[in-house]
Amino acid sequence: MTKGGVVKHGDLSSRVGVEVIRARGVDVEKLIKMLIANAAAEFASTYYYYTILRMHLAGHEDYKEICEDARLEDRAHWELIVPRIYELGGELPNDLPAFHDQAGCEAAKLPNPPTVVNILTLLLESERCAIRSWSAICDMTFGKDPRTYDMASRILNEEVEHEAWFIELLAHERDGKSIPSGHFRRGEPGEAPYSKNRRFYNP
Ligand SMILES: [Fe+2]
Ligand SMILES: [Fe+2]
Repeated sequence: MTKGGVVKHGDLSSRVGVEVIRARGVDVEKLIKMLIANAAAEFASTYYYYTILRMHLAGHEDYKEICEDARLEDRAHWELIVPRIYELGGELPNDLPAFHDQAGCEAAKLPNPPTVVNILTLLLESERCAIRSWSAICDMTFGKDPRTYDMASRILNEEVEHEAWFIELLAHERDGKSIPSGHFRRGEPGEAPYSKNRRFYNP
């Protein structure tokens, strides 16, 4: 890059798409790090572990289905955000354990004992971590990097719904209380209306 943030004609070593957001005040290196941490949380610590958690909701087909939606939507979040890391000039660690260890949220490992209440509590707290992490990306990019902001806010929309789902289920299961999430059901499992830009369940 030449002085003044101008990318030279034909230069492949820098990107206008990066320099314009840097000029608006985005710390691009920090953003890439945060996106990698969030991608690791979506894929390695959430999608992977939610698969195990869902298996252990045996006997609760309704809970399983809701866990399945959260699980597949986290996979959609991973798919949505990874290309953005590369567009910004970053890359995924070429080592799965190293990637896993960079996750911005604690791994949602199967609790011991794996009771339904323990599993729902863990799911709830994982969603809360995701809300915090994606809100941080939104704050960092708002008004400066519309593309990252748009992706992060789509993901955040779904994380907020996930939290509400697990509050409803845990309130019912643990406390015998009704705290509605407003949720009925997604269309197909893993519908991801925001992050896949699908239409909402709105018959
Ligand atoms: Fe997610
Ligand atoms: Fe989630």
